[in-house]
Amino acid sequence: MRVHFPSIVLSLAIASAVYAAPAPHVQLEKRGWVTDKLKELFTKAIDTLECGACVAALIGAKDIAFLNKNWVLDAVNELCPALAKMPKDVCSGLVYSQGPVMLDSLLAASLTGGDGKAICFHVLGACPAPAIGSGTLTFPKPRPANPIVPAPSGTQVDVVHLSDWHVDPEYTTGSEGACNRPLCCRKYADSPLTPTRAASSWGDYNCDSPVKLGQDMLKYIPTVAKPSFAILTGDVPPHDVWVQNKDTVRPIETAAYNVMASLGSNIYPTVGNHEAGPTNLFPTKASGGDISWLYSGLASDWSRWLPADAINSVKAYGAYTASPAPGFRIISLNTNFCYTLNFYLYAHTKDYDPNGEIRWLINQLQAAEDAKERVWIIGHVSPSQTDCIQNWSALYYQVVQRYSPHVIAEQFFGHSHRDEFALYYGPGAKSPQSAIATAWVGPSVSPYTDLNPGFRLYKVDSKTWNVFDSQTYIADLSKAASWDASGSSPDWHLEYSARQAYGAYVPIAANQPLSASWWHNVTNVFEANGAAFQQYYKYRSKSSSRDTDCAAGSVCAKELICDMRAGKSSDSCTKNSSPLKKRAEGEEEQTAADLEALAKSDPEALAGADRLFKRADPKPWNKNLCGLSIGN
Ligand SMILES: *[C@@H]1O[C@H](CO)[C@@H](O)[C@H](O)[C@H]1NC(C)=O
Ligand SMILES: *[C@@H]1O[C@H](CO)[C@@H](O)[C@H](O)[C@H]1NC(C)=O
Ligand SMILES: *[C@@H]1O[C@H](CO)[C@@H](O)[C@H](O)[C@H]1NC(C)=O
Repeated sequence: MRVHFPSIVLSLAIASAVYAAPAPHVQLEKRGWVTDKLKELFTKAIDTLECGACVAALIGAKDIAFLNKNWVLDAVNELCPALAKMPKDVCSGLVYSQGPVMLDSLLAASLTGGDGKAICFHVLGACPAPAIGSGTLTFPKPRPANPIVPAPSGTQVDVVHLSDWHVDPEYTTGSEGACNRPLCCRKYADSPLTPTRAASSWGDYNCDSPVKLGQDMLKYIPTVAKPSFAILTGDVPPHDVWVQNKDTVRPIETAAYNVMASLGSNIYPTVGNHEAGPTNLFPTKASGGDISWLYSGLASDWSRWLPADAINSVKAYGAYTASPAPGFRIISLNTNFCYTLNFYLYAHTKDYDPNGEIRWLINQLQAAEDAKERVWIIGHVSPSQTDCIQNWSALYYQVVQRYSPHVIAEQFFGHSHRDEFALYYGPGAKSPQSAIATAWVGPSVSPYTDLNPGFRLYKVDSKTWNVFDSQTYIADLSKAASWDASGSSPDWHLEYSARQAYGAYVPIAANQPLSASWWHNVTNVFEANGAAFQQYYKYRSKSSSRDTDCAAGSVCAKELICDMRAGKSSDSCTKNSSPLKKRAEGEEEQTAADLEALAKSDPEALAGADRLFKRADPKPWNKNLCGLSIGN
């Protein structure tokens, strides 16, 4: 798509040069004029989601921010309720917490030199993906010609995978479960007296976990597993991202880790995008900004599980390595340095390895190869996901190729809240022969949104540290009202064993792990066998009855199968996943129809003075505000 810059932007650029230090009265006049123009640019960008319009809006914002950042924030804040159809408090909370960092990045970025298109691609899906480049990493030593993978010992241990805990201490039983904010089941000032859908005491599909949901799950786990240890792939605070700051997130995190400690097993945690306050914002060394409050807080909370050298590393980077057993090492990455909504990253998009984390990872893996150790990499955002910046993901992929399968045994991530996996391949075509590594994307404890709560239990060989089975346990939240009525508790149960469910299609010998080659063959079955794909798709939402349809053979199914083979985010087929993009493609009409139906059937449900976005059941794109997506 050709990028053209409306002449208004040129005049703005000239104006900002001329008025670099305007007198107060000039400022007042100018402010009205420039913010009106900015509103036009933003409205056009969001309405059309056209690449040129988006870049033009960023340039306009930058020009005005150069004069006074508040002018931009105020203008966006005024536009936000109508454009994003969200309550004013949600808009202003997000605009004034996320906006300043985005503006600082715009001021540092070269918007016409490619950064503008990169931001518009990553944040709005409005531009085509920027070129990744062919840069190759250098490694301390070449890959061994015939890397040796040890034989399994035959002894298996239990490992629990918890992800996206998202506990909400303000969860209120009986409050509105179908509210107009990104997170429901809380008492808001404008909540209706009689809720349209009263939140159960155990959770709701529009909400994060009540404290007792996680506690109940932790009580259940020892009845089905004797975990050697657990991994926690990040995201502990709730999705009330418009009011979060460092003072609100830290006590929630500390309390949640205290609850998790009741599991009795050692837990190897990792830092998710929601651990920061404001959410997602992790400064890099190049960007400036301080996040030491978080890293030292996590170091203190995690010191019960991690050795002293790991704790020092957490304090410095939010990443660490630790060895739970001889010959075995966990490397916990801070994947917020690839997260597309970490706006600090856009100040220096040519810094392909912010904070040198990939370089650090290589050094750890080289040490592990030299010591003949087996390694698990854990992190929050999976490098396979479209919200991991493509360049970072491509570099990470090279690292996995270099150190798999003889050093990296497995990788574990979270963030999508869904029960998923992604595959890595050696050079050449993607085939069962070239598949070399698996990223296990664990499901969320939180039901947010439209999912059942769950966790995974892995059966792992104690020598190779390869996964022999992945078993997902869930509770069926659609029954929550009946648990309340009968005074019972969630029906935690085994949803499925991957070995049993998919081994039925791709037989596997008892002494073989669930290898990347086996998974590749399973993806072939998903292509050929509609029933098998539907089974996968059901498990992906933890058997939630509220998931959207994805018929076998449809574009949706093809994209999902493509994504299973896309350990590198640029290989993903769901590139235009921006919620606003979907809105532009027609979901808005559907929403209007939904609303009309609701207004007829239940006019009360639409009452409420300040409800700018009156929906019984917010759809995912509702989570995207003025381009400031709340993300997962
Ligand atoms: C920027 O604008 C705000 C609000 O309009 C105003 O209070 C502030 O003084 C301005 N700052 C400068 C440096 O002009
Ligand atoms: C990605 O990284 C390569 C170097 O590997 C570089 O040439 C290219 O410009 C980068 N792309 C972007 C969009 O930053
Ligand atoms: C995958 O399928 C190929 C045939 O396409 C077969 O040769 C190979 O043994 C299978 N591998 C696994 C692990 O299932």
